[in-house]
Parts: sequence; C-alpha cells; structure tokens
Amino acid sequence: MPNAIQSFLTDNKVSNINYNVSGDSIPSYDSYKKLCLEAENNFEEFWGGYATKLLSWSKTFSKVLDDSNKPHYKWFIDGSMNVTVNCLDIHLTNGNSNKNAIIFESDDGDVSKITYKDLFVRVCKFANGLKNLGYKIGDRCIIYMPMSIEVIVAMHACARLGIIHSVVFGGFSSKSLHERILDIGASLIITSDYQKRGGKQIPLKSAVDDAISLGNCDSITNVIVYKRTGSSINWLDDRDLWMDDLENNQLDYCAPVFVDAEHPLFVLYTSGSTGKPKGIQHSSAGYLLWSKMTMQWTFDTRDDDIFWCTADVGWITGHTYIAYGPLSLGLTQVIFEGIPTYPNSDRFWKMIENHKVSIFYTAPTAIRSLIKSSCIDPSVHPDNFDLSSLRVIGSVGEPISPDTWKWYYKNVGKENCPVADTWWQTETGGHMITPLPCLNYLKPGSCSLPLPGIFASVVDESGEEVPNATGGFLVIKKPWPGMIRNIWGNTERFRTSYFPEELKGYYLAGDGAQRDSDGYFWIMGRIDDVLNVSGHRLGTMEIESALVSHSKVSEAAVIGRSDDTTGEAVVAFIVMKGDKPSNEDAVNIAKELRNWIACEIGPIAKPKDIIFGDSLPKTRSGKIMRRLLRSIANGENINQDTSTIENISILDKFSISF
Ligand code: WTA
Repeated sequence: MPNAIQSFLTDNKVSNINYNVSGDSIPSYDSYKKLCLEAENNFEEFWGGYATKLLSWSKTFSKVLDDSNKPHYKWFIDGSMNVTVNCLDIHLTNGNSNKNAIIFESDDGDVSKITYKDLFVRVCKFANGLKNLGYKIGDRCIIYMPMSIEVIVAMHACARLGIIHSVVFGGFSSKSLHERILDIGASLIITSDYQKRGGKQIPLKSAVDDAISLGNCDSITNVIVYKRTGSSINWLDDRDLWMDDLENNQLDYCAPVFVDAEHPLFVLYTSGSTGKPKGIQHSSAGYLLWSKMTMQWTFDTRDDDIFWCTADVGWITGHTYIAYGPLSLGLTQVIFEGIPTYPNSDRFWKMIENHKVSIFYTAPTAIRSLIKSSCIDPSVHPDNFDLSSLRVIGSVGEPISPDTWKWYYKNVGKENCPVADTWWQTETGGHMITPLPCLNYLKPGSCSLPLPGIFASVVDESGEEVPNATGGFLVIKKPWPGMIRNIWGNTERFRTSYFPEELKGYYLAGDGAQRDSDGYFWIMGRIDDVLNVSGHRLGTMEIESALVSHSKVSEAAVIGRSDDTTGEAVVAFIVMKGDKPSNEDAVNIAKELRNWIACEIGPIAKPKDIIFGDSLPKTRSGKIMRRLLRSIANGENINQDTSTIENISILDKFSISF
C-alpha cells in the first residue's frame, strides 16, 4: 500500500484521548500491556481463565492446550459445550430474554425485530424439524441464503445439533456451490426462493437446483427453502420443504447436543493460491471464545449498544461479528438485507440515525463508494444525518488508506469515535491486530497493535524477525483458540500453506507487513496470488482455470491492479485459440468471458479489464512473468529486467483493455 507507507513515514497520529472505555473491555494502555505480559508469562492460565469466565460448559476442560501434534493444536481438552447454549439459552435467565437480539431491515426498508426468547424458540423449532428429518451431529449442511433472521436461525439450528454448517455467499454461482457441496459432502441444503438486493429479485433456489443437477449430489436428501418473496420456483416433492412448514408444530424446546470443544462448528470456503478453494475448518469452543473476547475488546461493547456489522454471513465477518459474537454477548444488532447504495447512497447513514446504531462496522470498499457518491450528490453526505449515537466505528477486509480513514473518522465518527481498523482473516476466526479503544493514539492506515495473547511478528524467509520499518512476512508465533483447525479434507495443504517448516512452525498469514518504531503494524497486502476485490478474497489461479476452461481460450493470466472503488480490480490477459481478435470482436468476446466467469465462479470474480495478446510473456523455463503483466495493467513503464523473457516482442502486441 503506497499510501500507507507514505503515512507511515510521516508518522501521522490521531490522538484518541477523548474516548473513555467503560464496558468490560480493556480500560487503558497500561492494562493492555499488563494483559499482554500475562499472556506471555502464563500462556495457558491466560486462555484457560477466559474460557472458564466467558463460556458455559456442560463439562469443564481438563487441560487448556494440547500442542503435542503441531500444528494440529487442540484447545480445552475434554471440555464439552454447545455454541447455541452460549448464544441463546444463557440469555433466557440473565435478564436479556425480552431484549431485541436482531433488528432486521429489509431491502425495501421494512423493519422486523426478534427478542432473544423468540430467537431461541425459532432455533429450537427448526432444530427439532431437522432432527425429525434425521439430521444429526457430524452431518454437513450447506446454507445459501440472503441476509435475514432466518439465516441466523438456520446456522444456530445446525449448531444446536452439532451439524457442521458451510455458508456459501449468495453471490456465488451454481458451479461454485456445486464444488462446495461435493467437497464438504453435504446431506442438506438450506436456501431461500429468492433474495432481494438493491431492488432486484435474485433467484437462489434455482441456483441450488442447477448445482445439484451438475451431478454426484446423491448425498443431498433435502433442500429446505425459506420463503422470501413467494415468487414461483421449481419444486421436487420428495426432496424440497418449506422452512416454515418444518418449524410449524414443532416443540419450542430442543435439547442441545453437547459437543467436544474441538467439534467443527463450521467450514467456510475461501480462495487460496491454487485453483481450488480451501474449506477453512473452525472449532466450537475456541472459536466462540475468541469471537466473544474480540467483540468485547475491540468494540468496548456495553449492554445498551446497538451494533451493526454490514458484512454478509457468507464471509467470516458475518460469522464472527453477526451470527456468533454479538449473540454471545447478548447485544442488540442490526441485520441488513440490502446494499449501501439503494435506494440511495445515504442508506447507511439513514439506518444509523433510525436505529441509533452505536457501533458501526463496515468495509473500506463501501466507504470509498459512499465518498464518491457524496461528492457527486451532497444530499447523501453523512453530514445530513444525525450520527451522534455512534461511539466506535470499524473497518475490515482490506487495507484502509489514510485518506479514506480520515474521511470516515471525520465525517462518520465526527472525530469522536475510534476507528477499529481490524486486521484478521477467515483462518484467524476473529480480530488479531486492531486498535483498541484504549489506545492513546491511532494512526490512519495502520491496524496498530496485536491483541493480548496474539504473538504477531514480521519475519524474513527463514523465520527471523526483521527490524522495524522493514517489510517481511506477517506471522503469528503462538497458537490461539480461534485459529483454523484444518483445511476440510486436506491436512497436507493445511500444514504446508499455514505452517511452512522454514518459518519455524509459525502461522503464516499470507500478508506482507512492517512495523514502525512504535510497534504499530502496517499491512502491505497479500504475498501470494490472492487478490482482494471489494474485501473479497479471489485466487488468481481460480479465475485463470475458469478462463481456460472456456472453449475459445488458450491461455490466461490474471493479476490485480489498483482501483479507486474496489481496492483491487481483476485484470485478465487472454490468448485465444486462433488469432488475436479484432477490436470489434474483442468487445463481444470480453462480454462473453465476463459472463462465463459469473457462471463459473460468481459476478464478484468478473475481470474489470480484459487484454488480448498473441502470447504471454514467459521466462525460458515457461513461467508467466506476472510482475511484467502487473506493470502493463497498471499503465506503468516497463523498467524491469526483461532479459530472461523468451518472447520479448510480444510485449508490444497486447491490445487495449476491453
Ligand atoms: C486482508 C476478512 C489490511 C488481508 C476478515 C487478509 C486486511 C485478508 C485487513 C483476509 C485490514 C483484512 N487491513 N488488510 N484491516 N483486514 N485484510 O479471509 O490481506 O476474507 O489476509 O477475512 O484480507 O480476508 P478474509
């Protein structure tokens, strides 16, 4: 991030002294330091203490950590519990029973609310329905649903019974859905007829039907459908069921299935540096503990908070900071079905004003697009709304540039709210490096300091710590309860991707980083072939293999270039079978390829630029020279060493982008 580094050099600090921590969070910088020291000196006691204090166990654990088979760490040995007991049952008797758990606002603006008690009953009824159908602990369920109260019910009903859920983002295509159904060996799919986003009705059930028709899905015994719009869909009588029919007439209590602390709560797929997405497997107890701790620490949560995380449940942020973290703490949260720009780009600010949101958590890509809109149309500027309910504002998913940070801090937070620039990943389960509200100062563009118990560092290729102001690999030196447990069905890939031997067994995050003289971390972006488009991780290899599976494409190379709105944009270099297309033909072929990618992966992976050539620049050993392509895509002069390039003349022959 050139911007971040620039700011790093000028040491741009924003004083945070106005903020008074008064929740159950970390009250001061001194207490933060003390906790860090405690974790260092008494590692197991530190984690064991929180696990005892914050979680309700049906059987207490006998040992905090088993590290005898690294990197297969096990936490809270012999302990058993149920995640939904910790998110729902506990609130029936602690005074939260009639408190709103969820304030749901639909795409059209309709608002419905559900209390903790009612959410508990819905989860129990739905879980009883699933139980009657024969689903049980260890089964796998794909959830492909819109943002709704129902998706939370579905996730928790699975967790109630020990069924492992895998939520697939509603923007993924039936092809991607199919790949995930097979990989996880699902026996159940929960979906909805349609989803509504930005005034449009998008079919989901038909994508499920298409995915199943792609074959080898005999393991699927039921498709349960939440009726969102009631528009017509295809129906298979012996397989498909309406969600409300299943809930009706069920008892409103379902006994929780207590699971081992390490039982997988869910598997969530994310892109890696090979063509196949990775199923990131999380635990039950350790994951929930870290969700709850980070929720409380990072956002300094209080009983009367109205929390709003704008992520989709299809991503890890929607798991940790919508489905699990807020409920574990008994908070009231807003869940939003729609998009920030519909019906106008003031939707977020209107909703903060209407629901009196006190903690707002969103992504830089959304902020960038709203900055743009408010420049074009001042009536959608946040200044036109009463945002005085806000206390903490957060950012997630990608680097936030100092300029965007400052706009957010000034115009949304009114220079009164700390900006939690939270660095973390699908694999880490929860926040890892983030500015706590108690920090004395914030630095726009830096995610600041690791949380207590998190031993983050920047190292070189042999695992040695690099000096401050030097770039290197971001690693975590010790395990933590919320960490990834495995890649579903691929232990070997788990070990080699995340714990490479040369890095001394440290967890390798896949990001480059550096630290400044205050120890603040600056994330410099991915070091592998993964792009970050609007906060969504996309593997270049995944897009390349989808492109070459098109009948007209011979070779493809995908790289990222910087983009004002989406952070990074996908650029595809294409060599066709046959001749390079004329400019007229190229327009149509580019359109065809974009549609192809939307079907193969999903619309988020569509290349923004498509550039045609006669061949790709390669070294003599046949490796595509991606750095060179990156320069071309970013419109930079090629001043790198091209002496190893075999086919140098091809550089002049790339088309303009389509
Ligand atoms: C990037 C999202 C800079 C990073 C929670 C990471 C960030 C990847 C930040 C994980 C941040 C996330 N600053 N970069 N605050 N947060 N990233 O798995 O490259 O979807 O490795 O998890 O997003 O993306 P994922």
